Amino acid sequence: MRRPQVPEYIRKLGVYVPGRPIEEVQRELGVTDIVKLASNENPLGPSPKAVAAVAAALPTVHRYPDGSGYALRRAIAVRHGVDLEQVILGAGSVEIIEMLARAFLADGDEAVFSEQSFVSYELAVRQVNGKAVTAPATAGRGHDLPALACAITDRTRLVLLANPCNPTGTYFTRAALDRFLAEAGDRALVVLDQAYHEYVAQPDYPDGLADVKAGRNVMVLRTFSKIYGLAGLRIGYGLASAEVVAMVNRVRSPFNTSSLAQVAAVAALDDHDWAQRSREHNLRELAFLQDELRRRQVRFTPSVTNFVLVEFGTDVGELFLEFQKRGVIIRPVGGPGLVNCARVSVGTHAENERFLAALDQLVRLRAGA
Ligand SMILES: Cc1ncc(COP(=O)(O)O)c(C=O)c1O
Repeated sequence: MRRPQVPEYIRKLGVYVPGRPIEEVQRELGVTDIVKLASNENPLGPSPKAVAAVAAALPTVHRYPDGSGYALRRAIAVRHGVDLEQVILGAGSVEIIEMLARAFLADGDEAVFSEQSFVSYELAVRQVNGKAVTAPATAGRGHDLPALACAITDRTRLVLLANPCNPTGTYFTRAALDRFLAEAGDRALVVLDQAYHEYVAQPDYPDGLADVKAGRNVMVLRTFSKIYGLAGLRIGYGLASAEVVAMVNRVRSPFNTSSLAQVAAVAALDDHDWAQRSREHNLRELAFLQDELRRRQVRFTPSVTNFVLVEFGTDVGELFLEFQKRGVIIRPVGGPGLVNCARVSVGTHAENERFLAALDQLVRLRAGA
């Protein structure tokens, strides 16, 4: 058969490897009663109000959604005190990252991001034949903002900063962001990816919304996939100046977010109790998980969010399989500086106990006990 005629930059692209679905592991390994701690989802589930809103909207799914997502954009605009024209919706915030790459990067234009940050950045940039420019992370696996500022050139159109960062769980402060924005100036759009924003309790953590409101060349990204528990519906949003949003809208596909996702997000946004419960649960269980890792002298990067990057000191591919055989799906990560690392999402208390029990078993096995 003839080789598909695609440009070289497409042929060379890697494929995003998601956390393994529970059903797949069940099928392949014949294991039941599986816990998935691989994709940083809300272990408590979706907001009950969102579930009710989806059920109520089901009879209307023969209609196309409102392509502009008016009701949801309005709810978001009111929540954050911005204009309707400053809000854009995506099928998950990852779709907005892809739209940004399409809108901002012509052949060879550059996007700058940290080496140990979200893998989708590189894929989105390379899909459009943009040039991914990275700066190494700090020794503590944080963003090296001065180095990132230095990496900006005349060809840079986007800077992608994950705060908190996935997969490291680290964050940078308001003071550090201010210094960075002063250095970066207006040369490129700075994308503050705040997918895990709602989990962070640190008082010096910066909310990029203030920077959008101050008229800086910034887009904030948020998602309903994490604390709002709607990962399966695929819905996220961006906040920026009306001018930036208008440009990104030019590359948005007409019905990119579904009607069910839109109504669920409106309901979830209003469910403060669910978000608060989820936040408190996470803080408690994150502390538990990190304490237990410390007690076992397992190395990890202290996290401010709903997952922990663990350093296993052994081949993580093999470990990944051993965990699965014990009914626990974690997420191996790779790339520069991340050898033998895996990301473990904070689950319910029982799920976290399952992870720790599997870890203990594997440690004992390796010690030959
Ligand atoms: C840093 C970061 N940004 C964006 C996303 C995208 O999430 P979604 O597309 O589900 O909104 C994720 C998901 O894991 C993430 O970790």
